[in-house]
Amino acid sequence: MNLEEILNYRRSVRVYDKEKQIDTDKVRHCIELATLAPNSSNMQLWEFYHITTPELLNKMATACLDQTAVSTASQLVVFVTRRDLYRKRAKAIFEFEEGNIQRNSPKERQEKRIKDRKLYYGKLIPFLYARFFGILGLFRKLIVSIIGIFHPIVRQVSEGDIRVVVHKTCGLAAQTFMIAMANEGYDTCPLEGFDSKQVKKLLKLPYGAEVNMVIPCGIRKGDEGIWGERFRIPFEEVYHKM
Ligand SMILES: Cc1cc2nc3c(=O)[nH]c(=O)nc-3n(C[C@H](O)[C@H](O)[C@H](O)COP(=O)(O)O)c2cc1C
Repeated sequence: MNLEEILNYRRSVRVYDKEKQIDTDKVRHCIELATLAPNSSNMQLWEFYHITTPELLNKMATACLDQTAVSTASQLVVFVTRRDLYRKRAKAIFEFEEGNIQRNSPKERQEKRIKDRKLYYGKLIPFLYARFFGILGLFRKLIVSIIGIFHPIVRQVSEGDIRVVVHKTCGLAAQTFMIAMANEGYDTCPLEGFDSKQVKKLLKLPYGAEVNMVIPCGIRKGDEGIWGERFRIPFEEVYHKM
């Protein structure tokens, strides 16, 4: 399949054929490909939980409100945001970038580029991602709205805004994963219909983690697998050429 065929092939599949197994290593590889998704500041505040055991699959089906997409799936991948890991990730990126600049930037620009990255990942990112019951976000909003009187500036800096940022990023990884799966001839269905508290407990996720999407995986079951034809709003209604 070429890319257009893959995008047409990918549908939200709600019933999987239990007789047809999928290869765990291939699913794992699709998760690895998902990490190639673009992501905000390259912070990669995501984690992927690949569920393959029948016991955990059964428990997840209950936590996902008994949706057939989960109860008939052979495997599940849970996409999780980890904005609580911002310091660890920023440190890893800076360490990589320092070497990257030394290897790939012109000699005369290296010092400034390293200094800029240090400021970005050492000061700005920790300032943006820090949380304290919404108060730090309000403080950032205040600073940004004052600077914004004089200059264009990114205004989405509240604690809620940063939560959106990590979920956007994780959604891109989820979509990359589903496309990679379709390329293998495997089916998926993105889900937000789940009890997040139960899912977090089943996966033993820490307080700072959030469940972004649960994605059942398998092979569609004949005509039952997909709920009929695909509907999209007429393109002219959503496309604005300017
Ligand atoms: C964030 C998100 C959450 C979704 N949650 C559910 C869900 O809980 N249950 C479900 O059956 N489908 C769910 N879907 C699938 C959508 O209903 C589906 O993508 C949409 O109807 C378009 O169909 P298509 O994916 O086959 O093109 C979700 C999709 C997204 C992107």
